[in-house]
Amino acid sequence: MRYPVEPFRIKVVEPINLPTREERERLLIEAKYNIFKVPSEKVFVDFLTDSGTGALSQSQWAAMMEADESYAGSRSWFRLKGAIETFTGYEDPIPVHQGRAAEKLLSALYLHEGAIVVSNTLFDTTRGNFTAVGARIYDIPTPEAQDIGSDFPFKGNIDLNRLEDLLKAGGVKLVVMVLTNNTGGGQPVDLDNLKEAYALTQKYGVPLIIDACRISENSYFVKKRNPKYANWSVRDIVLESFKYSDGAFMSGKKDGLSNMGGFLVLRDPEKRLRAKELLILWEGFIHYGGLSGRDMESFAVGLMESLDERYLEYRTGQVAYFTERVKETGWDVMWPPGGHAVYVEVRRALPHIPREQFPAHSLVVELYRRGGIRAVEIGSLMFKDAARYEFVRFAIPRRMYLQSHLDYTVEVLREIYGDREKLRGYRLTYEPPYLRHFLAELEPVA
Ligand code: F0G
Repeated sequence: MRYPVEPFRIKVVEPINLPTREERERLLIEAKYNIFKVPSEKVFVDFLTDSGTGALSQSQWAAMMEADESYAGSRSWFRLKGAIETFTGYEDPIPVHQGRAAEKLLSALYLHEGAIVVSNTLFDTTRGNFTAVGARIYDIPTPEAQDIGSDFPFKGNIDLNRLEDLLKAGGVKLVVMVLTNNTGGGQPVDLDNLKEAYALTQKYGVPLIIDACRISENSYFVKKRNPKYANWSVRDIVLESFKYSDGAFMSGKKDGLSNMGGFLVLRDPEKRLRAKELLILWEGFIHYGGLSGRDMESFAVGLMESLDERYLEYRTGQVAYFTERVKETGWDVMWPPGGHAVYVEVRRALPHIPREQFPAHSLVVELYRRGGIRAVEIGSLMFKDAARYEFVRFAIPRRMYLQSHLDYTVEVLREIYGDREKLRGYRLTYEPPYLRHFLAELEPVA
């Protein structure tokens, strides 16, 4: 099959509009060339993020009608608690309103000035939360990930040799395995790589935490790409993955198939108690953690729906279809296709724009100008000197866009590729201290 067929049909529709070229031009100027500041109603196809943007199922909507909004002891909390325990195999989970709230709790529980955190590649908010308390970050993805065009199936892996060197040298307080590796191109982590990383952390007495926000997609890749697990169910691979950790956190806005939600689980009961004390200060009581009863219901149902292998076949099939079509236009893409997004690497195509002038951002602006398409830069604008790639990421919201939306985007990308030498660089006119890409203001370089 050259294209994935949706294993659902549409019950509710939301209209989308393509503003005129003049309006798009004006909106870019008003937004100071920061795509986060463009109103979503003025975006035709929105690939900004797969976080909290997907469509809910009829089962999720039905569960939301039954939600219990009680402050303490809510029925909806006990449903979510049960779902998290079934999904992870951990007991006594802690609810949070989204992933970064768990990151803040982890910083308070494990980190301090000068503490070292090692990861296959932290996401920007995790990096931001950890560095805010003075931690030093070492991202050590597997060397195979450097060659974006090769067929290596698990480019999300951590470099085990470097991990052991760092653990041996001392000062490492936390190892975080991000499944899938979002900033590393949405690439999966092999279960065997996770197991070996865990064995090393056990040997040196350092806790390993899983960032599990796309663990269902990751587990589907383990099943498809590692023959050892070909006969396992995704559900069992997810459970097996969590065994090789001392704790985990999840943004439910990704594989929770929910618009809001998250959790933190920890093996150590002392740390759990400390986390709950802080939760009440920062997020809310331990039976809702910043979530409404409705959020907890939709998250509880969504977690289980994410394990449906027909859904995962379609989901990863859609990303693969999109990645293959974009590759045919001439742009370089992260290969093989990953779990939630297409990543275009712009450096070869835009050699005339130096990294200090954000070549990937230049493509982001052009996509909106030409097609009303919103994507996100994951490169020097987001990560400064820590950027490994100059990526434009097209994250696909779950169960929302159809093949024609992808084909339209491919056509716009093909047109821009033909005119690529006309693209210009950008410079910052305002730079915020943390996570600068969100609030940055820019102007084109003359
Ligand atoms: N970890 C990873 C790997 C993520 O991709 C994200 C969010 C988070 C943690 C934080 O979770 O948003 O619920 O606070 N990623 C979104 C994205 C925002 O667009 O990739 P959050």
